[in-house]
Amino acid sequence: MLQCVSTEDDFVGAAVTLSVRVRDLLPRDLPACTWSGSATHLSHVERELGRAAAGEVDYLAVCTPVDLPVAIGGVDYQVSEGAGTLWQLAVLPALQSCGLGTLLVRAAEHRIRDRGLYRAELAVEEDSPRARALYERLGYVAYGREPDAWDEEGPDGSVRRHETMCVLMRKAL
Ligand SMILES: CC(C)(COP(=O)(O)OP(=O)(O)OC[C@H]1O[C@@H](n2cnc3c(N)ncnc32)[C@H](O)[C@@H]1OP(=O)(O)O)[C@@H](O)C(=O)NCCC(=O)NCCS
Repeated sequence: MLQCVSTEDDFVGAAVTLSVRVRDLLPRDLPACTWSGSATHLSHVERELGRAAAGEVDYLAVCTPVDLPVAIGGVDYQVSEGAGTLWQLAVLPALQSCGLGTLLVRAAEHRIRDRGLYRAELAVEEDSPRARALYERLGYVAYGREPDAWDEEGPDGSVRRHETMCVLMRKAL
């Protein structure tokens, strides 16, 4: 649906309603997910899809009507006993702040409940106040902090270690 906002002389803007659906992320989707990170990151995601096939994780995709992923993220069931741990949440930069992250988190929580579990957990970097505010708005409560580290690939292909401090958050479902 498209609603145009314009004055007599100028086109000013428009509001577009986009239908999306949530499904499992599949290996064939990966070429359309380059917006979510580097080649190294995507090879990590590909490995996680192997774990999804084995039932160890769920990996979700929010897709547009032409079935292209615009938000992806996983739930790992092997991190914390009795809980699903949300991780690698990412929304296409051009569509952030439209509610897709909220939809992805809610879909992930449904998957956790479908497995008979009643707790969701996640870790958010201390210097990501916007992401943390989103999780607090969705009912997640901080219960600790923990250092984390991973390899990051720069635009020139060089890989460096990213070390960070994360806030641990959880929510009863
Ligand atoms: C963090 C992230 C996953 C959140 O996804 P998102 O789609 O932007 O989140 P939402 O739109 O659901 O909610 C966030 C914002 O949108 C607003 N919002 C939510 N629903 C909305 C709607 N229907 N219409 C307009 N705004 C809305 C919220 O108030 C919030 O406000 P903010 O922009 O001031 O922060 C996404 O921004 C992202 O990929 N960031 C980069 C990677 C990252 O940091 N990942 C998280 C690792 S823990």
